[in-house]
Amino acid sequence: MKNKLESIREESLRAIREAADLSGLDALRVQYLGKKGSLSAVLKQLGSLSAEERPQIGQMANVIRASIEDALKARTEALQSALLERKLQEEAVDVTIPGKKVELGARHPLQIVWDECVDIFIGMGFQVAEGPEIELSEYDFDRLNIPEGHTVREWTDTFYITEDEKVHLRCQTSPVQVRVMEKQTPPIRIVSPGRVFRKDEIDATHSPMFHQMEGLVVDKGITMGDLKGTLNVMLKRLYGPDTVTRFRPHHFPFTEPSCEVDVQCFECHGEGCRVCKGEGWIEVLGAGMVHPRVLAGCGIDPEEYSGFAFGVGLERLAMRRFSISDLRLMFENDVRFLRQFS
Ligand code: DAH
Repeated sequence: MKNKLESIREESLRAIREAADLSGLDALRVQYLGKKGSLSAVLKQLGSLSAEERPQIGQMANVIRASIEDALKARTEALQSALLERKLQEEAVDVTIPGKKVELGARHPLQIVWDECVDIFIGMGFQVAEGPEIELSEYDFDRLNIPEGHTVREWTDTFYITEDEKVHLRCQTSPVQVRVMEKQTPPIRIVSPGRVFRKDEIDATHSPMFHQMEGLVVDKGITMGDLKGTLNVMLKRLYGPDTVTRFRPHHFPFTEPSCEVDVQCFECHGEGCRVCKGEGWIEVLGAGMVHPRVLAGCGIDPEEYSGFAFGVGLERLAMRRFSISDLRLMFENDVRFLRQFS
């Protein structure tokens, strides 16, 4: 029986040393130490031994069991650390490999002009106001003193959303004036850039969707002088300190008096050329003193307060600023065009 135990020891220790993986080791544990394992088989025969031999063999079996357990433990640890080592190597990250390049886009020319305009007015203490693109005719027309029957209210000009003509895609940013005035008490100083919609055919200078920035100032004692001063600051910031401006009488239903503002042509300095179509001047925006009826309609007493307003087309500013000859380029999303502004 001693020999039997000896050979179990030798065989098992070798097998454990040579075990290639953890599941193999586990099988060996069962094979040698399990209830039906070879060591147990030997111990079951102890009863057949003499009283003298029994403790000797029993002790020997215990020693062998202990050494098998030690060997299993050592091999398990060795296999586990080898496994970890391999995993670490396989999952290693080389932090010195150059990263993937992120393609950085460019701001859209319209956004550049939009941001510039807003910045100029924020610098003068204005706040930015917003209004809905789907607007009530009440705000876009009635309360701006644009009566029923006015041409802009025609179905051929305006994108109506409801049959009763009460809701449409706003055709100007001017309704934001009403929305601000009915909520805020003067002093009011806001600009409001945003999208507007008109039933225009698409060509080099027209689009059914374009952008405007509205401006509104209401306070005690606001005059046409404030209007001219403020707009001159804006146009000189946009086009340079030598910019020459001209305020020309005009008509808008929501301002009285109203004007259009031109800048002298940078190309010919007023002589008349191809750029200004022989005019010498280029029209840039509409403006005026807020009509007393509009103020009163928003609960602001026109005897106590006065104000000025203006509306400027942002595409036009951008086109002039970057010498873009065709409006359609701005909405086609051709990256070859857009990349030029990075
Ligand atoms: N809303 C006008 C338009 O789209 C532009 C305009 C003119 C706005 C005069 C104003 C203004 O605030 O006072 O043509």
